[in-house]
Amino acid sequence: MDLSQHMNRITGDDAIIWREGRLYLLDQRRLPAEVNFLELNSAAETARAITDMVVRGAPAIGITAAYGVVLAGANAFRASAARWQAAIRDDIEHLGRSRPTAVNLFWALKRMEALLAELPADRDPSDALLQEAIAIHQADIRANRHMGELGASLIGAGSGVITHCNAGALATGGYGTALGVIRSAHKRGLIREVLADETRPWLQGARLTAWELLQDQIPVTLLADGAAAHRMAQGGIDWIIVGSDRIAANGDVANKIGTYGLAVAAKHHGVQVMVAAPTSTIDMELAGGSEIPIEVRGEEELLGCGGRQVAAKGAGVWNPVFDVTPNELIDAIVTERGVVTSPNRKKMENLMANRPESP
Ligand code: MRU
Repeated sequence: MDLSQHMNRITGDDAIIWREGRLYLLDQRRLPAEVNFLELNSAAETARAITDMVVRGAPAIGITAAYGVVLAGANAFRASAARWQAAIRDDIEHLGRSRPTAVNLFWALKRMEALLAELPADRDPSDALLQEAIAIHQADIRANRHMGELGASLIGAGSGVITHCNAGALATGGYGTALGVIRSAHKRGLIREVLADETRPWLQGARLTAWELLQDQIPVTLLADGAAAHRMAQGGIDWIIVGSDRIAANGDVANKIGTYGLAVAAKHHGVQVMVAAPTSTIDMELAGGSEIPIEVRGEEELLGCGGRQVAAKGAGVWNPVFDVTPNELIDAIVTERGVVTSPNRKKMENLMANRPESP
């Protein structure tokens, strides 16, 4: 696909593109220095792209995996019109091993599997699978726009906000969850200042969140991750606004490592914590956050920086890339179905059953 004419206009909303039977992913490892797309032709390539962080962010991982199933279906039917169903099952398992924490991955794969179960065994499944993947993608964008409005309604005029990692268009189907709220609140003129943690070791804040906000003409100030508590102590910060990779049935929230520390510091300083996430991020099968599988990634991510070894040779490494913020540290979970304040199991059950929160 020739994207060269559009390269200077590429935004986070273009991170996942399906065109003419192929999947194109904006390579998020190289942003903002390089705007480069990878072409993917199989489920195995898609799984690898998720594991290697070409695409990241919970909803974006789910959407990408759904397109990965489309590629799997097309390839399997082409290889054998009689045995495509067995081949696609292996591919779905492969996609399911790409990253463990974002439940959106498993949610999207389950949706694709449910559709597959209804398809006739003797027909090419590609078109039906593609329609389902597009539906997942489009619904995520709609959810984000709605969450943006709901979240912005909680924010007072002249607010200072801190965000962590990247929960923007790049991490979703478009517009973003936490950044969607910040975008909507900024449009309403409510935001005085946005601060973004740099987010070691992948620097999603410094590279991706800053790139997205500046493209939208929203000024952003970067913080070293360790500077956030000190900044809160100085005053003028009203909200921590983050996304999530998985929310347990009691409202405990897994998100990028460092979120828990931010929430603890926020409580101490009287700063409110908002988590913006679609209901595809809520896992009602897990009673609490301690049951959420936390991905631990390779030591090279901490030993080096920008491809160069920086740590003392011989140092041991522990690199969990998510943590769990307990529900008592969270003021609001904003979803496309509504807002849950001071979350607990009962309120999360009501949300998922679509019963509005009582005052
Ligand atoms: O390791 P990453 O970059 O995939 O982690 C992403 C996050 O932690 C995001 O905050 C989360 O997925 C929400 S994205 C809308």
